[in-house]
Parts: sequence; structure tokens; C-alpha cells
Amino acid sequence: MHCVRKVTEDLYWVGANDHRLHLFENIHPIPQGVSYNSYLLLDEQSVLFDTVDWEASRQLFENIDYLLGDRPLDVLVINHMEPDHCAAMEQVLKKYPKVKVYSTEKGFMLMHQFGYSVDEHETVEVTDGDTACFGRHTVAFLTAPMVHWPEAMITLDTTDGSLFSADAFGSFIALDGKLFNDEVNFDRDWLDEARRYYTNIVGKYGPHVQSLINKAAPLLGQVKRICPLHGPVWRSDIGYILDKYNHWSSYEPEAKAVMIVYASMYGNTESAAQALAAKLCDRGITDVKVYDVSNTHVSYLIGEAFRVSHLVLASVTYNLGIYPPMLNFLNDMKALNLQNRTVALVENGSWAVKSGDLMAQFLDEQMKLMTILNERLSIASSCKASQEDELNNLADSIAANMRES
Ligand code: FEO
Repeated sequence: MHCVRKVTEDLYWVGANDHRLHLFENIHPIPQGVSYNSYLLLDEQSVLFDTVDWEASRQLFENIDYLLGDRPLDVLVINHMEPDHCAAMEQVLKKYPKVKVYSTEKGFMLMHQFGYSVDEHETVEVTDGDTACFGRHTVAFLTAPMVHWPEAMITLDTTDGSLFSADAFGSFIALDGKLFNDEVNFDRDWLDEARRYYTNIVGKYGPHVQSLINKAAPLLGQVKRICPLHGPVWRSDIGYILDKYNHWSSYEPEAKAVMIVYASMYGNTESAAQALAAKLCDRGITDVKVYDVSNTHVSYLIGEAFRVSHLVLASVTYNLGIYPPMLNFLNDMKALNLQNRTVALVENGSWAVKSGDLMAQFLDEQMKLMTILNERLSIASSCKASQEDELNNLADSIAANMRES
């Protein structure tokens, strides 16, 4: 059964929702699913903007068959060649032997690498400032390297203001009928997953996202809606999502808030983490969340680390090193280029306590612009009542730093 939504009088969402995939990119859990957005423009020529993942291709074809009827598909625009969007293009090329393909130089290179028979088709290699006219609609192409792959581009329909933004402004969570940002409570239900999507998928490439935002700035006045490859279409409140992207891509925290991440084998480090959380709340800092690093997928920790201004890393010492899941979190923060945060450290060990120094060394030497508070809580096996002053000092230090920053 076809499942389409009208975006404008002649533009349709023809994508698909996926609730079967457990791990996006075979690494990030997506318990609420994901959508692969594809858009069909019915102008004098019919134009498909991107496709869908392989598993969703039957749905894509039911959708475009329903809308095209006896018409052929004339044009395929590929903004992004990652297979969650381009896998079905192999079938599109086979089904429509006369379809003309637009993409960037690197887009065509990737089509060859993935083994698609694009050479049997008319192709148009585009770059910044190139345009194409499909009848009433004219589109302009803008390269968007490393947002999220090197070949990516965005396409602006200059006739009616639809911006096909590739991965930019996308989100996890299946649409399930709803398509537009004003049909969901984005701030309540989607923001955390949009942040988790951005930070884990594109987080490393903040400078490239900033470049794209600057490059596209002169066009923003023409944008009436943003049509990303995942998640809702933005047809109102575009400034809201642009502001979020500005924060995330410049590594600026969204909130004065604390995340406490603990690595605890028998509950003693956890106990200290909870006591610290309570003391922060006593001091009026209530945007505090506590995470067990062993039981929280690192993608959620990354999303939260991009949101908050302050982190507390509380780790046992393990094999004279940092507890492996905590080290994994540190490595992921480094890989995703997280920077410009203030960190307090809590260490624990029953002999040879090492984790505090090792975490400090990692933050200092392997990450950028990380400020480590001088106060550190050091625990020998369990946090004693006699250490309450130390806990208070740590909470005071975090509170004072939040007030100053
Ligand atoms: Fe949703 Fe980079 O692909």
C-alpha cells in the first residue's frame, strides 16, 4: 500500500519508516525507529530527490508508482550517497532506463564504488552555483562536504523555497504518519533524539557544518521549508532548529547543566555519584542527570555531553587503568570532537588509585579546551561519611564554576 504525504501542491514525501532496524549504521540503537525521506516533485519533469535504504525500497516504489501513474521518472537528484539513502537508486536506475542523474563529482565516484550502473544513464555533475530547471521549478545546488560524507550537497528549489538538506537537520525516530515539525511536539518528544542523531553521526564535522551554514546564509531568506533525509520537514520555526545546529556544530553547550557519568563495579562509586547529584540540587542546580556508563549506550552519553556545560566523570580504577566503558566514552567524545566543557573528576580504587590522573591526562592531552576543576574526590573502596566535606567542596566548586561561566 502506498503511503505518501503532500508537502506542497506538487511535491510529495515518498519515503518510508523503519521500525525493524535495531542499530542505525549497525552501531546506534534506534528504539523509536527512523525514517528515510525521499521526495518526488511532479513538474513538467518528474524529479526524485534521493531514495531510501534497501529494505524500504518496496515502499518507495509503491509510493512513486502511485503518484507517477503512467509517467516515467525523468530525473534523480542524489544529494547524499550513504546507503541509507542511495541503496534503492540501483533499482531506480534499472526501472527507469532514461532517468537523468544529478549529483556531485564525488557522488558519481561513490556510485561507481558501490557498483551502480550509472554510466548507462545521462548524468549531470553539479557544483556550487549550478542550477537546473524542471519546468516551473528551478533548483540550485550547493556542495556540503563532510555533512556528513565528502560528496554531500544540498539542493534549494528557488521557485518555492524547499531546501533538500541531506543529513542536515535530520533526526532519529520514525515519522509514523506525521511529517511536519508542527505536527509533533519537537522540543518534548524529538529534540533529544535529534541531538543524539546529529552528535553521533555528524558531530565530528562541526567546522564543516558551520561552513555550510555560512555558505548557505545568503539563501536562507528564500527557504520556506527544510526537507531533510530523516525526521520531520521544517515548515515553521526554522530559526529553532538552526539555533540548535549552531550550538552543536560550534560545540557550545545548550544548557547550564551537569551530567554525572559513573563507572561502578559494586555500587560504591555510584553511591558517591548520587550523593553529589543530591548536593548539586541542594545548591539549586537541578538540571542534573546521572548515567551508569555500563548500562547506557554511549550514543546517549554523547548526545547529553553535547547538551550540558559540565560533566562529572566518576570512575573506578580497573587493571590500573580507566574502567573500559568509561574509556570508551572518553574515546567517543574525542572522536566526535567534543570540546569546551568543564569536567570534575571522582576516582575510586581499593589499591593504587589511578583513574583520576588517567582521566585528567586524557582530557588534557587528547581533547580540546577541556577545563578540569581542581577539586577531585578520591575514594578508597567506598565513600565514607567522613568525606562529606570533600563532596561538599566538589559540589561548591561545580556550582561556583557554573555561576561564573
Ligand atoms: Fe542518513 Fe549520512 O546518511
